[in-house]
Amino acid sequence: MKIKLSFSIILLFMTHLSSAQFEPNYDEAQVPIFPVPDLMTTFSGETVENREDWKARRRPELLRFFEENVYGKVPGTLDHVSFEIVEQNKNAFGGKAHRKQIEVTLQKGNRSLGFHMLLYLPKDRDRAPLFLGYNFFGNHTTTTDPKVLISEAWTMNNEKLGITGNQATETSRGVRTNRWAINKILDKGFGLAVVYYGEVDPDKNDFSDGLHALFYKDGQEQPKADEWGSLAAWAFGLSRALDFLEKEDQVDASKVIAFGHSRLGKAALWAAATDQRFAGAISNNSGCGGAALSKRKFGETVGRINTSFPHWFSDNFEKYNENEEALPVDQHQLLALIAPRPLYVASAVEDQWADPKGEFLSAQYTFPVYGLFGKKGITSQEMPEVNRPIHNTVAYHIRTGVHDVTDYDWEQYLIWAKKFIE
Ligand code: GCU
Repeated sequence: MKIKLSFSIILLFMTHLSSAQFEPNYDEAQVPIFPVPDLMTTFSGETVENREDWKARRRPELLRFFEENVYGKVPGTLDHVSFEIVEQNKNAFGGKAHRKQIEVTLQKGNRSLGFHMLLYLPKDRDRAPLFLGYNFFGNHTTTTDPKVLISEAWTMNNEKLGITGNQATETSRGVRTNRWAINKILDKGFGLAVVYYGEVDPDKNDFSDGLHALFYKDGQEQPKADEWGSLAAWAFGLSRALDFLEKEDQVDASKVIAFGHSRLGKAALWAAATDQRFAGAISNNSGCGGAALSKRKFGETVGRINTSFPHWFSDNFEKYNENEEALPVDQHQLLALIAPRPLYVASAVEDQWADPKGEFLSAQYTFPVYGLFGKKGITSQEMPEVNRPIHNTVAYHIRTGVHDVTDYDWEQYLIWAKKFIE
């Protein structure tokens, strides 16, 4: 199929030059007018005619741009990755799951870093499709299962969750079960693998530890301007988790979906963009630097995110602080790197900081690339009604409620994954 689409969409809104540039804008009427960077025209102005063109020219140049200017490049390769099953039980979750806890060890020169993956697999299935995602406070927070190991890694304090002294304890076991519908996932025949993101790279503006430090040359103390921030490090960690899953007989490694909420949704998208072994991706409320369009400057902006979280992106991304106009790309082009694999973008009505409309439009704008592969994206530019999901190869929903992962979200992901991944 030959599709030629000229895709310069101009959003018809007023330009607003705010004096208080760091005040977030929540007024649709104040969203600037901007040309949406065209997916189907190369940086040198040539039109992408077909899927071969996309794969050979456009996709690589977009990937390179995001690598060098947004998330940052991985500076080298590991010498060795090893896996050890440190605990397992064939009768977990009331007898319906096989639980495995794996330590993944990454080695580079004389340095090494280990992280733990918690795996639940439906017992009645030989090779299960699976969701792989990070959690914010430790694997033991995702379930009340008393056997799940508690991470010894640095953990962000959270009084409400009972985490103090940057150390998780028994007190926080099960405090985030609401975000992981494990029963529902297993009942639908899917497996779930979770990793505590702080074991891969602690979420603080300090480059002396975690994955970055593993790759330093002698005397180096932080990544170069075009090298990885924490989001790219977390994405790299998901790929190493997938290395294990490829060796696990009970998992169908060709059906592993990268899942993530918020900052971890940003990481999941980047993982699926950089590693085509992922069968698909789910972005739950990922917002700025994730699914949301940057040029709308609605809610969180590039300047805000780089100021609040200077360690998340490459230093090169700071060039676009208060300067989104200069970006030759936008986040729909990150999403398009996942094509033709299934992609789900989800928003929440009360999560305006993440710009639900920007998340929707970004997913919608990927349709010409999915079309090249004969896959259905989102055809209408109208946002669907609240709690009325669109389930195509590219899927979207906006639900009631706040920035969170809910059972409603998981119910939708499962219906969609049954259809497009399984
Ligand atoms: C902050 C940040 C967001 C991020 C969110 C989260 O709100 O500004 O970009 O997505 O944290 O990870 O919960």
